[in-house]
Amino acid sequence: MSQKLRSQNWFGKEGKDGFIYRAWMKNQGIPDEEFSGKPVIGICNTWSELTPCNGHFRELAESVKKGILQAGGLPLEFPVMSLGETLIKPTAMLFRNLASMDVEESIRANPLDGIVLLCGCDKTTPSLVMGACSVNIPTLVVSGGPMLTGKFRGQNIGTSDIWRFSEDVKVGKMSLQDIRQSEAAMCRSDGHCAVMGTASTMACMVESLGLSLPENAAIPAADSRRKVLAQYSGQRIVSMVKENLRLSDILTREAFENAIMVNAAIGGSTNFVIHLLAIAGRIGIPLSIDDFDRLSLNIPLLANLQPSGKHFMEDLFYAGGLPAVMKELDKFLHKNCITVNGKTIQENYSTASCYNREVIASPETPFNATSGIVVLKGNICEDGAVLKPSAATQELMVHTGRAVVFENIEDYKSKIEDPQLDIDETCIMVLKNVGPRGYPGMAEVGNMGLPKKLLEKGITDMVRISDGRMSGTGFGTVVLHVTPEAAVGGNFALLQSGDLITLNVPARTLNAALTTEELARRRAAWKAPEPVTTRGYVSLYLNTVQQANLGADLDFLTGQSGSEVSRDSH
Ligand code: FES
Repeated sequence: MSQKLRSQNWFGKEGKDGFIYRAWMKNQGIPDEEFSGKPVIGICNTWSELTPCNGHFRELAESVKKGILQAGGLPLEFPVMSLGETLIKPTAMLFRNLASMDVEESIRANPLDGIVLLCGCDKTTPSLVMGACSVNIPTLVVSGGPMLTGKFRGQNIGTSDIWRFSEDVKVGKMSLQDIRQSEAAMCRSDGHCAVMGTASTMACMVESLGLSLPENAAIPAADSRRKVLAQYSGQRIVSMVKENLRLSDILTREAFENAIMVNAAIGGSTNFVIHLLAIAGRIGIPLSIDDFDRLSLNIPLLANLQPSGKHFMEDLFYAGGLPAVMKELDKFLHKNCITVNGKTIQENYSTASCYNREVIASPETPFNATSGIVVLKGNICEDGAVLKPSAATQELMVHTGRAVVFENIEDYKSKIEDPQLDIDETCIMVLKNVGPRGYPGMAEVGNMGLPKKLLEKGITDMVRISDGRMSGTGFGTVVLHVTPEAAVGGNFALLQSGDLITLNVPARTLNAALTTEELARRRAAWKAPEPVTTRGYVSLYLNTVQQANLGADLDFLTGQSGSEVSRDSH
């Protein structure tokens, strides 16, 4: 190790400052020699009983600590804001950037040489990676792992079934008692959602970016090999500090391109777009929304996982895990990207094998030729909108329909079951004001449920358009992330019920049949919504959040501030 350890700016000092930095740490029973030049590794923990997907993280942190100690480092665990997707109101996404600020400042302010990020539930991965990128010291991610596959009355179930079950309850195919009993059957072990939802997508994202050890994405939380991986990660971060292998060495433009291609092959969540753009913005790599469409274009869907397919993350692990998927993508990927273990991405996946072709297909006989994220442009999404074709209905990919417009989520909830609502299956449902500023926080409500009267006719999908997001576990012909969002006055804000809208996925367009004169007439009458608050973090968020096509980060958080702190506190 040639460079001076950052932590020595604290623990290596003499005099009063050194005394204060060391003495209070000694009340935890840390012997004096621990402070004389060992790499200090922070374990950034998102454990919380309010984040059940990360409820096993204290135990996981112990495994990381073992590894750090074995390699001669000093582990120091610290908590950061933890975002539990299922409980936080109005939506966890509102606080992703706040959590990232906590992470960034906690790392920079403390005597840390390297970081292990413990990530699990959806937003806990991007918020931690974003914060760490803005500091840019050696960093490695350990994911919490997916839950075991849910088992309910002879069926495999996972988070995507919530949408099906709730529609079955609406039409009387399932009782309220049945759905209640399915709750414990679905969430029967430690871990995050067991389908290729956002949490699994994020775990695959960090592995394909090279930020975790191989196999990190798919090992179930309850499998003892998750603890072994955590232990090896603890060992490895100590070496990364000695090698000064930083995030910016790993997160190159090619690494981001690899992540986009892998995401296409696994049928990852549309939330991937927002989070990857935000991470690229922090580390300073130019990435645009159009890159997602362009790079996904030739990538077939290889992983047969819900919600695009049938199986679960546990099955992906048994079939060979993400390395086996990446091996199938060898001809597409940038092979020389360096990863946290010091090896190239190709070296990491070259020893993998596929053990189940039902779960991981080959590019020659893919599970679905259509994959990835489609980026649409048009007069109601001037800066873009996204759609996940593998989760959509083929027959609706080119469709013209009459708009049924809901001005906000309350308007939707109050009208959707009204028998008088003028809607049929050829209509296009439009939901406004659920974007970054409009909700605020860009809620996962874009795959709005169909009205009961159409479900009873056997209709299972319709074109739906919103400026919000969709849960990674959701599905349907759902256009999301419309930019500019309604709340900032893009043309999307001007849509009215009865307008004709044409979705043309092959042409990548989404347009309303409205003349520029008509749009101008409506714009003159448009009023911006009042802010929901003028105080606190939400006010800061409302004033500075960027649009979805830029990753919805706060404008002043893009880029890095580095790890230097020039002043002492004493
Ligand atoms: Fe935490 Fe799905 S709710 S990962």
